[in-house]
Amino acid sequence: MASAAKSPAIAPPKVGQTRLLIDGKWCAARSGKTFGTYNPATEMKIADVAEGDAADIDLAVKAARRAFESGPWPKMDARDRGRLLNRLADLVEQNLEQLAALETLDNGKPIRDSRAADLPLVIDCLRYYAGWADKIGGQTIPVRGNYFCYTRREPVGVAGQIIPWNFPLLMVAWKWGPALAAGCTIVMKPAEQTPLTCLRLGELALEAGFPKGVINIVPGYGPTAGAALVKHPQVDKIAFTGEYKTAQIIMTDAAQTLKRLTFELGGKSPNVIFADADLDAAAVGTEFGLFFNQGQCCCAGSRVFVEEKIHDKFVEKLLKRAKARKVGDPFHPDTTQGPQVDQAQFDKILGYIEKGVESGAACLTGGKRVGKKGFFIEPTIFGGVTDDMPIATDEIFGPVLSLLPFKSVDEVVERANRTSYGLAAAVWTRDVGKAHRIANSVRAGTVWINCYDVFDAGAPFGGFKMSGIGRELGEAGLANYTESKTVTMSLD
Ligand code: NAI
Ligand code: MG
Repeated sequence: MASAAKSPAIAPPKVGQTRLLIDGKWCAARSGKTFGTYNPATEMKIADVAEGDAADIDLAVKAARRAFESGPWPKMDARDRGRLLNRLADLVEQNLEQLAALETLDNGKPIRDSRAADLPLVIDCLRYYAGWADKIGGQTIPVRGNYFCYTRREPVGVAGQIIPWNFPLLMVAWKWGPALAAGCTIVMKPAEQTPLTCLRLGELALEAGFPKGVINIVPGYGPTAGAALVKHPQVDKIAFTGEYKTAQIIMTDAAQTLKRLTFELGGKSPNVIFADADLDAAAVGTEFGLFFNQGQCCCAGSRVFVEEKIHDKFVEKLLKRAKARKVGDPFHPDTTQGPQVDQAQFDKILGYIEKGVESGAACLTGGKRVGKKGFFIEPTIFGGVTDDMPIATDEIFGPVLSLLPFKSVDEVVERANRTSYGLAAAVWTRDVGKAHRIANSVRAGTVWINCYDVFDAGAPFGGFKMSGIGRELGEAGLANYTESKTVTMSLD
């Protein structure tokens, strides 16, 4: 395992904002409590952050409600909402280096990824939705009788947004972009592991000129701050990204007030390599599809189906790539793999690696911790995996890849679909017909052909089955933040 050089090439940034944003002001939690956020590369505390709970959520929701009903926000021209979003995108661009470094500090992702992937996607998403703000129209409907009938698309109201730690800032952009374009107001609860970049974006939003109360941020824990947001009667909608088990709790908690719900959950995505594929390209895409972001991707290609004919040849290429990954200091520009986000994820992943060995799979590379400090895990590949092993059925959310050999198209489709998840899938082949046959028969919200993890703010993303409800990004993502209103007028 190549370990990146010791001295960080980039200095970690100064920690900025650590308080709650409520009604345009930064404040301590009502309880006075704080919680620590840690650097996963060193296990050292970075900062103490205000810990919001039900009392703070109540204040934030009331501020968002006021801003939605009587502030400047509901009267603002849609085009000016778009301008504010563009101004926020400009400020993110101007502060790219600082935000990228803060993301790497709090989350542990390599600085090259924060700079080249997370931040550019954040900026693009904000600009994409800025363009939508003044293009949210309805229809005219040819109804029976002498009536004029049309629909309006109105903002759904106060949106409660609960996000995870794997792409802290990008998840903020995916949630804020469509909500603000549609004219909603927001109460966001960032993940307790990674609140810092969201808070910095809150500062930039105020600088951009968003009116007070439009964007509120309450860091805190799920069962306290998160649950209070889900249960609050003045919240109209909850958008959540995270684990399906948490989504089940949220669905139950939201039932009392019949909130609109959208969920972006996990996966166990199949990545299918046919013998007729460009095997070098497939090896690059397969490495990226699983190991990117330390394997902490909801759409990680963790079940790699390899056609038997080329199995050994392909695996050789893949192993070479996995072994060449540079695991180490995320602030070193050459590092390609940083630490897992926290002790809980680190323990969970090592537990699955143990289960893989116990169930008889062959650990072809990796399998161990790297170093003694920080949550680093070797890029790990299991061969001889069968469909029923825990490493083939459960979302591991770490750098652990399972190889599953197959013989025929029908067989691989059936096995790829034998999961309760349905977020993403990929197929590698030069046969266009076969590619589309797979694309049509895999039950997943996204299918990549001869590529992996290609995201665009315009392309909807979300899950079939237990991978989610609704879609984010694109026009579909916007629809989640609007209600349709039918207006009928007599022409007599
Ligand atoms: P989680 O689902 O518990 O946390 C996500 C967010 O939900 C956090 O902001 C958390 O504070 C909040 N939350 C937790 N309990 C809540 C509740 N009762 N009510 C309202 N909000 C609540 O995910 P966690 O524990 O961080 O990770 C566990 C596993 O979930 C991972 O190992 C991975 O398998 C999966 N996961 C999937 C993600 C995805 O992108 N689909 C992202 C993060 C985790
Ligand atoms: Mg949890």
